[in-house]
Amino acid sequence: MTDPSIFPPGFDTAAFLRDHWQKKPLLIRGDGTAWRNPIDPDDLAGLAGEDGVEARIVTRTKKTWKLEHGPFKASRFAKPGKKPWTLLVQAVDHAMPEVAALIEPFRFVPNWRIDDVMVSYAVDGGGVGPHFDQYDVFLIQGLGRRRWQIGSRCDAATALLAHDDLRLLADFVATDGWVLEPGDMLYVPPGIAHDGVAVGDDCMTYSVGFRAPSRAELISNWCDHLLDGLGDDDRYADPDLAEQANPGEIAPDAIARLHAMVTETLGDRAAFARWFGGYTSAPKNDVDWSPDALIEPEALREAFAGGAALRRNPASRFAFIREGDGVVLFVDGQSFACDGEFAALAERLASTDRLVLDAAAMNSDATIKLIRALVEQGSFGFDLKD
Ligand code: SIN
Ligand code: CO
Repeated sequence: MTDPSIFPPGFDTAAFLRDHWQKKPLLIRGDGTAWRNPIDPDDLAGLAGEDGVEARIVTRTKKTWKLEHGPFKASRFAKPGKKPWTLLVQAVDHAMPEVAALIEPFRFVPNWRIDDVMVSYAVDGGGVGPHFDQYDVFLIQGLGRRRWQIGSRCDAATALLAHDDLRLLADFVATDGWVLEPGDMLYVPPGIAHDGVAVGDDCMTYSVGFRAPSRAELISNWCDHLLDGLGDDDRYADPDLAEQANPGEIAPDAIARLHAMVTETLGDRAAFARWFGGYTSAPKNDVDWSPDALIEPEALREAFAGGAALRRNPASRFAFIREGDGVVLFVDGQSFACDGEFAALAERLASTDRLVLDAAAMNSDATIKLIRALVEQGSFGFDLKD
């Protein structure tokens, strides 16, 4: 089921996955009443001024497009110039819980496939130009209006404009288009050309983006991880060496042994699964969500006994893999091996945004230890509304 504030009542997520996900775009109109824009343009401008936040401004001039990288001081927005421009801020969900909350209705897609929420602000005519992305994206119209046009499927052979920093399409031909109002949403699959232009000032768009690791990214990061654990003395050895007819030949059994040294390590599926869980759940930016004060186990027990609920940090990444009878839970880059009955709790943690523990669970030291670790890394916090 989905959050009615974004998807219209009765939206069929199974049909969406079958007919549209990774296949073709879909315009989803809101009902015009439920939507509330989560942050103001000023909040976004403030975030764009912070160090460590990825922010860009794209300005459209008569002849070309100009790209600037943040952080941007407030004075940059005081004299913005007359040309249409847009500000884009990446991973706003990491910094603003109101934006992270936008992700919840998309849980019909596995957690690990969800990337981040990018937020853009544009003046009339502003946009990033026609382009295609390598990932699925839901473009939620937050404030003001934007005309979206979509085109055909693109790939590495598609012609791009000669521009050092922006990958804009040289020949964009629109095949369909709509003006989106607040609460409307456009789903665009990877590779489909699209172009969004603000219609009027104060246009804000929230892009809920998904991740699909490239083969190159996977191999490079998996190898980096493996290399950290390999010692210099782990080497080719041939105590059974016999004299060869031609000393110039790299013999087949030597090749087989060398090749096995690589493939046995790279092909360790269990080790790969454990590594991937930690890798994919790690926060995108360097964030510190830990609370100011540590919570003692007794205080945690008392809070639960008093009926308090824990709420998941909406920007936190929870995932798990099955391993034997148990599961390994991954939360924001940390892993927790959870066996036996404990596995059920881990599965619950990965699927719920609100947790209330019963008396039996509170008596388990292992449970309290896990919950405490998650609270201390800021992945769960007490629900102040309870
Ligand atoms: C935007 O918000 O202007 C750009 C989003 C996108 O095209 O991916
Ligand atoms: Co795009």
